[in-house]
Amino acid sequence: MADIRDVAKLAGVAPITVSRCINNSGYCSPQTRARVEAAVAELGFVPNRLASGLRSKRTNTLALVLTDITNPFFTTIARGVEDIASEAGYTVIFCNTDESVSKEKKYLQVLLEKRVDGILLVPASNGLDSVALIKKRDIPIVVLDRRVPDLQTDVVRCDSEEGAYELTRLLLSLGHREIAILNGPSGVSTSGDRLDGYRRALNEAGININAKWEYHGAFTQESGFEMAHKALAGVYKPTALFATNNFITFGALKALQEMELRVPEDIAVVGFDDLPASLVTYPFLTVAAQPAYEMGRRAIEILLDKLCGKASDQYQEVVLPAEIVIRQSSGRVRKLVQ
Ligand code: RIB
Repeated sequence: MADIRDVAKLAGVAPITVSRCINNSGYCSPQTRARVEAAVAELGFVPNRLASGLRSKRTNTLALVLTDITNPFFTTIARGVEDIASEAGYTVIFCNTDESVSKEKKYLQVLLEKRVDGILLVPASNGLDSVALIKKRDIPIVVLDRRVPDLQTDVVRCDSEEGAYELTRLLLSLGHREIAILNGPSGVSTSGDRLDGYRRALNEAGININAKWEYHGAFTQESGFEMAHKALAGVYKPTALFATNNFITFGALKALQEMELRVPEDIAVVGFDDLPASLVTYPFLTVAAQPAYEMGRRAIEILLDKLCGKASDQYQEVVLPAEIVIRQSSGRVRKLVQ
């Protein structure tokens, strides 16, 4: 008598996939379903409904854990995720951690208790403990936006290092030499990668790294405001600011306005993250625009493949390029009045 493993072998899928297709207990592509049904017919397989019902326990729910649900970058990621997930018959639970590891752990505990079928995680800090916890419970996970050092897992992110390198090179090409970087928290991979790209461009141009132009804060407007004030407090001032995310950029612009410094006439500003065109009537910021929607889409597709047993055994790291969008804010170098 053929069993579920025989059907799986003939159909070329995992046994869990056969169970999911037969019980309609999760995503199963039309192609996979056709292969499974053909194998069932050929082998005359009769499923044990009771046993498979106990095993599947699918909830058809997924979770997207973000660090700042007010940030249009993350809401655009969420749009990409939800469009694909709902099409596949899943509902998505959105969680906001405010870059707090303790909040992240509380949410993950609840999600595991709710038996979500899979998790998409933007890790607060380095994410090591959280990702390890999820993997230990054998819940499929895809990490978004950030890298988790020294841990094998599927990742979808933007190439922050290259985007920062290109933005800094642009400022150098416009004659800027004193460029201050206003960065997010150290320990978060996107901060580290953007700092690396900034330093690579300076080194390549033969400019010494000057620690006094490197500021670390949080990915918030308040922090951007404070860092901009610090960078411009001394007599010796930078001619350009590189803000490593959209909220830091907004805070820095508020500080420049308070100091009555015009952009780009008095100081150039470039930043990571463009704003959705629907939100900005007169875009003037030069940015490294991250493909947020595509990042969300790619991440949920990998997760769904894992759920229906189609994913490869190898972990994937999908790294999408940032698009450099040159607008007025980068300007040309002008020495600030000392
Ligand atoms: O604005 C969101 C971006 O800034 C993301 O890349 C996040 O990691 C932060 O770096």
